Amino acid sequence: MSRYAAFVLFLFLGFEIYLSQGIEVKVNDKDDKLCLYANLMVNFSVEYETKDNKNVTAEFTIPDAFTSSGSSCDTKTSTLKINFGDGHSWSVNFSLSNKTYQADSITFSYNLSDSTIFHDPLSNDTVTVNTQPHISDVVMDTCYSCKSKEIFTTDAVSQTLWNVLIQAFVVNGSKSENITSCSADIPVTPTTVAPTTVTPTTHTTAAPVTNVTTLPPTTPTPTPPPAIPPTGRYSIKPDENSTEACLLADFGLRIGLKQGEKYEEMNLDTNGTKVSGFCGVNNSELVLEFATVTMVFSFINESQRFRLHALNVTGKMSSGVAFSEVNTNLSLWETALGSSYMCNKKQNDTITNQLSLFTFDLRVQPFGVKKGVFSTAQECSGDDTSILIPIIVGAALAGLILVVVIAYVIGRRKTYVGYQTL
Ligand SMILES: *[C@@H]1O[C@H](CO)[C@@H](O)[C@H](O)[C@H]1NC(C)=O
Ligand SMILES: *[C@@H]1O[C@H](CO)[C@@H](O)[C@H](O)[C@H]1NC(C)=O
Ligand SMILES: *[C@@H]1O[C@H](CO)[C@@H](O)[C@H](O)[C@H]1NC(C)=O
Ligand SMILES: *[C@@H]1O[C@H](CO)[C@@H](O)[C@H](O)[C@H]1NC(C)=O
Ligand SMILES: *[C@@H]1O[C@H](CO)[C@@H](O)[C@H](O)[C@H]1NC(C)=O
Ligand SMILES: *[C@@H]1O[C@H](CO)[C@@H](O)[C@H](O)[C@H]1NC(C)=O
Ligand SMILES: *[C@@H]1O[C@H](CO)[C@@H](O)[C@H](O)[C@H]1NC(C)=O
Ligand SMILES: *[C@@H]1O[C@H](CO)[C@@H](O)[C@H](O)[C@H]1NC(C)=O
Ligand SMILES: *[C@@H]1O[C@H](CO)[C@@H](O)[C@H](O)[C@H]1NC(C)=O
Ligand SMILES: *[C@@H]1O[C@H](CO)[C@@H](O)[C@H](O)[C@H]1NC(C)=O
Ligand SMILES: *[C@@H]1O[C@H](CO)[C@@H](O)[C@H](O)[C@H]1NC(C)=O
Ligand SMILES: *[C@@H]1O[C@H](CO)[C@@H](O)[C@H](O)[C@H]1NC(C)=O
Repeated sequence: MSRYAAFVLFLFLGFEIYLSQGIEVKVNDKDDKLCLYANLMVNFSVEYETKDNKNVTAEFTIPDAFTSSGSSCDTKTSTLKINFGDGHSWSVNFSLSNKTYQADSITFSYNLSDSTIFHDPLSNDTVTVNTQPHISDVVMDTCYSCKSKEIFTTDAVSQTLWNVLIQAFVVNGSKSENITSCSADIPVTPTTVAPTTVTPTTHTTAAPVTNVTTLPPTTPTPTPPPAIPPTGRYSIKPDENSTEACLLADFGLRIGLKQGEKYEEMNLDTNGTKVSGFCGVNNSELVLEFATVTMVFSFINESQRFRLHALNVTGKMSSGVAFSEVNTNLSLWETALGSSYMCNKKQNDTITNQLSLFTFDLRVQPFGVKKGVFSTAQECSGDDTSILIPIIVGAALAGLILVVVIAYVIGRRKTYVGYQTL
């Protein structure tokens, strides 16, 4: 009984947190019925150059005074737009397909002329950046919920989102009580999860779980579970003046290092990661500098296919052990040019005898990025077991039939010696 009371109290408190701190937006359709609901927290960190040639970082959030003009709902697409301050805006585009909806892009515009945020900037332009969120496969008529922090980094801008509750395509004007949780919120419970929930259609490994309203409490500032590193979103632009990315990479990273008898693993935190690199015609490079580790991913484009061909990892493990491991002869994530490579399940790749690389929720495109978003994905084989199993079964059956036919033919030949037709 008391346990039940504590649970109800938690639900109440959880709800209270949403109401008291988040940015709440309600968008109505033309019949004045609720069609999009959002309650979320977002922090921005923007690096800009000042007139005296210093790079400084401005940190700000959406103030209580904002408007939602520009938001709209349609049957298959909808837009959440939040306008604040002197010409800043933050918007998310959603689309609906089948029985699920997803967020296609986040567009953030900031006005460098706003002297309350940017002091003495070199430029007075309004800058727009596009990122691709990981809000997908949200079951229709449920709210997407993500209490965990998600960080989107493009070279000058970092956006941190947390305590997110969004429902696009609200049915009949009332927000759903059912929840689709993001994968970061779902505690890693080995094997014992009963498959009772409704599973969304595609992308099974990354798919959020529906209706898990009874999740254990996450504190307002949760740290991701040690089991899975946070998914970072990194992008490179062709030059400082372009608005669209030419290289995109989303992944959570972990490295495993062997030193003599000792083996240590370390998750790489997206917080404060410095992103650099370049895009070329035949070579592209992504450099990620975490607090203690620097990773250089070199991609190559050869006969209409790209692959990760070199990885250079240097740094210090949390135990203080310094290391430097390079392999310039890799063939990972190989995909046709014009596509992106995707692998949602955990991947373990041996880089050197000492170093293993683990990736989670991987999606990369080092060449041929169009409009700043990923092209069609080619998925790693392990992601598609649902397709693979029937193929294997089918192939086994075909093999069996062939064996039977051959045995029959041989049998006939033994019985009637000579060349008789069957
Ligand atoms: C968001 O920004 C505010 C003010 O800059 C800061 O106090 C807070 O710690 C930030 N929260 C996160 C989660 O980064
Ligand atoms: C500021 O950042 C830009 C772009 O990252 C870079 O080109 C420039 O050299 C930096 N300036 C200083 C003074 O660090
Ligand atoms: C940017 O800020 C400046 C100064 O506050 C203002 O005059 C200008 O209208 C703003 N730009 C936009 C696009 O709102
Ligand atoms: C988002 O939707 C709005 C309105 O439908 C559209 O004008 C805008 O181009 C879209 N943005 C992206 C990045 O697709
Ligand atoms: C809709 O679902 C069907 C079957 O579940 C699938 O074949 C089709 O590709 C899906 N369409 C989209 C746009 O996802
Ligand atoms: C922005 O900068 C340009 C040139 O640097 C200047 O001509 C213009 O007056 C500035 N605009 C504002 C609103 O400060
Ligand atoms: C939640 O989902 C269940 C099963 O999908 C459905 O029966 C129920 O009506 C939903 N509840 C609400 C409030 O939408
Ligand atoms: C989803 O939650 C609602 C109550 O919030 C419950 O009535 C329903 O049975 C649940 N559906 C599933 C499939 O667990
Ligand atoms: C970016 O724009 C500035 C000012 O418009 C210009 O001086 C600079 O050369 C441009 N850089 C590139 C790489 O095009
Ligand atoms: C990110 O880094 C900043 C400063 O380095 C720190 O204050 C903040 O707590 C960190 N956030 C997380 C989630 O680790
Ligand atoms: C790997 O990176 C380190 C540090 O950035 C550098 O000293 C080393 O030369 C690089 N090795 C290769 C083969 O590129
Ligand atoms: C990763 O792969 C290496 C080599 O195949 C293997 O020795 C190691 O046990 C694997 N690690 C994990 C955690 O699966």
